[in-house]
Amino acid sequence: MKNILITGGAGFIGSNFIRYLLLDERFDGNIVNLDKLTYAGNLMSLRDVAERREGKGYEFVRGDIADYPLVADLFKKHRIDTVVHFAAESHVDRSIHGPADFVRTNIVGTFNLLDAARASWKSPEGKRFHHISTDEVFGSAEAGTAFTEASPYDPSSPYSATKASSDHLVRAYVRTYGMPATISNCSNNYGPYQHPEKLIPLMVLNASEGKELPIYGDGGNVRDWLHVLDHCSAISLILKKGRVGETYNVGGRCEKRNIEIVERICAMIEQRMPGRKCAGLIKHVTDRRGHDRRYAIDSRKIERELGWKPRRSFDQGLAETVDWYLANREWVDAVRSGEYMKWIEKNYSMR
Ligand code: NAD
Ligand code: DAU
Repeated sequence: MKNILITGGAGFIGSNFIRYLLLDERFDGNIVNLDKLTYAGNLMSLRDVAERREGKGYEFVRGDIADYPLVADLFKKHRIDTVVHFAAESHVDRSIHGPADFVRTNIVGTFNLLDAARASWKSPEGKRFHHISTDEVFGSAEAGTAFTEASPYDPSSPYSATKASSDHLVRAYVRTYGMPATISNCSNNYGPYQHPEKLIPLMVLNASEGKELPIYGDGGNVRDWLHVLDHCSAISLILKKGRVGETYNVGGRCEKRNIEIVERICAMIEQRMPGRKCAGLIKHVTDRRGHDRRYAIDSRKIERELGWKPRRSFDQGLAETVDWYLANREWVDAVRSGEYMKWIEKNYSMR
């Protein structure tokens, strides 16, 4: 790992991953962060990184992974030997209302990156393409089962269907062209810098502001939660020790019903904001279309082969996350406000 192209590095997991790499004193590579800065990308998530490292082993490029000439140019200019591909349209609800961007970014964008790597890498020696994927490609898990790397693909939403397509493309490039690629399929992440459209930050912010807490359906849907930094450690291990052509499932062994998460958040907010009463804010609303009932990941392969283990308990991680959102109002306001996008348009032209 010398010259790393990180796509989607201004998003939730990508920004955490860049900070994770740069905080490691043994890391001596160069990072190019290619991000389109859609509504989900936020350079404020990397302000500290940019202040310390911009121009010193870290460079940000505003651009679209679906733009082949740009991607090919970055491979050449920066002699990219490693790709860590996070960029995606990531929100299931948005994919239900408007799937086109998901097809463009998640499928065409991934294809472009693979093809640019194929054109640029004359030999697989010292190269690696790591594709970040999701447990949602497997569809809903029956009670008592958990997804393994061999589970059949059965996506339910336009989002998960596009992620499934991108996984298939990566595998096809491994088999057809010998692309030195790996894939990880991870469960639900939580932690700092997650866009407030997603369950945990949305509930923390709404509860703290006395707004309604919309629970889809009966609130009995189950997700398997993992702290984002534990996901980052898994990705880093796969880059260092993962076997080319392999897929690794990554999960927290932490299944929770949505309603349970929201009730926990309510209790934490009430504790931190005396006088605030949250229980009455919970409102069951119309269910998400095609809503998967349960996700559960079997991560024994990455544990056994690479020695990975999540380090944060959900209790500790959730409490820290709640505190982070309460303490970082400036970030929250910037993400929510249209002013931020105007500032981006003025200061960062698209390449
Ligand atoms: P996010 O929505 O927070 O960030 C996505 C980033 O990609 C944003 O910065 C956005 O600006 C950028 N982007 C979007 N379209 C682009 C394009 N065409 N060109 C360049 N950049 C573009 O997403 P996230 O939650 O950080 O997820 C990152 C990856 O991890 C995704 O591939 C997602 O499918 C996967 N994943 C997420 C989770 C989760 O719980 N969040 C779990 C498993 C896997
Ligand atoms: O499983 C991994 C996936 O986790 C990632 O691939 C996706 O990119 C990421 O967005 C996430 O998908 P989910 O759909 O599970 O996350 P979301 O936060 O949107 O919803 C979590 C659960 O909470 C889900 O069952 C829907 C429910 N929900 C969500 C919102 C936003 C509600 O009940 N109310 C809400 O307002």
